[in-house]
Amino acid sequence: MYSDEEAAALYDVLNAWGASDDFYLALVMDAKSVLDVGCGTGAILHRARPAGHAGRLCGLDPDPAMLGMARRRSDIEWVEGTAASMAFDGEFDLAIMTGHAFQVLVGDDEVRASLTAIRQALVDGGRFAFETRNPLARAWESWNPGNAMDVVDPSGRPVRIWHEVESVVGDVVTFTETTSDPDGAALRVDRASLRFLDVDTLAGFLADAGFEIEAQYGGWFRESLDPASPEIITVARV
Ligand SMILES: C[S@@+](CC[C@H](N)C(=O)[O-])C[C@H]1O[C@@H](n2cnc3c(N)ncnc32)[C@H](O)[C@@H]1O
Repeated sequence: MYSDEEAAALYDVLNAWGASDDFYLALVMDAKSVLDVGCGTGAILHRARPAGHAGRLCGLDPDPAMLGMARRRSDIEWVEGTAASMAFDGEFDLAIMTGHAFQVLVGDDEVRASLTAIRQALVDGGRFAFETRNPLARAWESWNPGNAMDVVDPSGRPVRIWHEVESVVGDVVTFTETTSDPDGAALRVDRASLRFLDVDTLAGFLADAGFEIEAQYGGWFRESLDPASPEIITVARV
């Protein structure tokens, strides 16, 4: 067995700070008030405060174990909930959704309700920055046991992690993530679905929710977006 709390602590080992976090941290430091939707363990806001951000920082996530990690810092506001359930009203200059969190929004209704709540949370002219994997790059094709990772978790326990795709139906990829002992004996299996929206469909959802796309990039160094780009990184404005 491997508990939700152990899995949440392992998340930061598997997702070490990188170029995507630098991209978002720069936006956060430039904004007076920031809402991190699907903040997970809170890594970006955790850096923003000691880096000198003196304004409102708020992270929201529905997963109590992930939020438990985030709550290690008490000088940031943490809220348990989903994007669609938020009731903020014109309170933030910037909302972010990082670590491909936007892709957990699978159904059209959930995407619409989440974008509406994010728009409602922002001031007029506020910005929403997030990324979603480019479906044309077909990242899920490398999610297989041949790409298993061996890591040591924060308690010093060696574990192996691998992914297996169960189905690709339209733009929704359903897969499992297995956490095992180094010999492959499974400790836990998590199942998830992610939506791979294409550029045009994404633009339609954003426009319907009252956003205008200010910039779109294909990589974390603001590379232009082209068909082979791994990411669709969007900065949208209310
Ligand atoms: C891949 S993690 C990304 C976490 C963090 N943003 C990061 O960059 O590391 C996706 C997060 O989205 C959260 N999540 C799942 N459903 C959500 C929803 N409907 N609204 C907001 N967040 C959600 C999960 O609990 C999880 O913490």
